[in-house]
Amino acid sequence: MNKIGVLTSGGDSPGMNSAIRAVVRIALDEGMKVYGIQHGYEGLMNGDFKEMNMSSVSDILQKGGTVLRTARSEKFRTEEGQNRALQMLKSFGIEGLIVIGGDGSLKGGLDLSKKGIKVMGIPGTIDNDLGYTDYTIGFDTAVNTVLSTISNIRDTSSSHERTTIIEVMGRDCGDIALYAGLTGGAESILIPERPLDINQICKKMIEGRNRGKLHSIILKAEGVDISTETLANKIQEMTGMDTKIVVLGYIQRGGSPTAKDRMLASRMAEKSVKLLKADSESRAIGILGEEIVHFDLEDALKMKRDYNKELYHLANVLSK
Ligand code: F6P
Repeated sequence: MNKIGVLTSGGDSPGMNSAIRAVVRIALDEGMKVYGIQHGYEGLMNGDFKEMNMSSVSDILQKGGTVLRTARSEKFRTEEGQNRALQMLKSFGIEGLIVIGGDGSLKGGLDLSKKGIKVMGIPGTIDNDLGYTDYTIGFDTAVNTVLSTISNIRDTSSSHERTTIIEVMGRDCGDIALYAGLTGGAESILIPERPLDINQICKKMIEGRNRGKLHSIILKAEGVDISTETLANKIQEMTGMDTKIVVLGYIQRGGSPTAKDRMLASRMAEKSVKLLKADSESRAIGILGEEIVHFDLEDALKMKRDYNKELYHLANVLSK
C-alpha cells in the first residue's frame, strides 16, 4: 500500500495531534504518501484532502485539539454519504484510511471497510468507553485536568465547610469520575454502571462530619440518571449541609496531552501505519496492559466494557 489518509472524527481529545504527527512521520519513513483529511467524515465526502510532509506536523505534538479539525457527520451515516466518501478516496488513489476517534467514528470506519477500504481504528476519546482496549487517547489528560480542579475545589469547600458535586463527562462510561475520584480522594463517586444510592451518600457525609471532616467532594459522571441540580437539592435536604455544584464541561476536552497520552498515541499510530503497509485487513488498535494490540474492527466494536470493580471498592475504602 502506498497512499493512505488520516482523519479525526467526533469529540476531540488531547493526544489526537500526537497521533496525527506519528501517522504522518511513520508513513513517510515507510515510503508512503499520506493525506490529511480535514473535518472528519465531512471532509472525506467533500474531498477536503491535503498531502502531508514532515513539516506539516511540526510543533503539534504538545497541542490539545486536532489540527485536522473534527466533526460529527449525519450525512456520512447515509448510504449516499458513504458512497461519496468512497469515490473521493478512489479518485485520490487512497487504499487505506486511519480513523482517530471514539465509538461512533470507528463504526463509520467499519461501514467504509465493508465497502472495500482498509481501515485502521485508533481510539481517540476522553471517555475511555471502548470495550476492546484498556485506555483511549485523551482519557489520561482528562483525568489529570479533573484532578487539578478537585484540588482547587477542595480548598474552598473546606474553608466554607461545604459539599461540592463535580459533574464530569464520559457519556455512558464512569471512568473519568472513577479515576479522578480515586486519585483526588472524593468521598463518593457516582457512575452510570452502578445503581444510585442517595441514602448511602448522605450517610457517609454525616459520618464524616461527625468525625470532623470539613468538606465532602462528590464526583458524578454525566451518564448517571439524575440531574446534578436535583441531586444537590436532595442531598442538602437530607443532610442539612450546604451543597454546591460544578459542571466541568469542555475544560476536560482541551489541554496539552500528558506523557501517557502522547506515548499511547505514538505507539498506536505506529502500529496502524505498519499494518496498512503490510496490507492487513481492517483492525482496531488498542492497548492491553503494556502491549499494543489489534483486533478485527467489527469484533472489537462488539466487545462490552465493564467498570473496574476493584478500583471502585478501593476508592470507597480510601475515602471512608
Ligand atoms: O465523547 C466525548 C464527549 O466529550 C462526551 O464525554 C460528551 O458526552 C460529549 O462528547 C459531548 O459532545 P459534544 O461535543 O457534541 O457536545
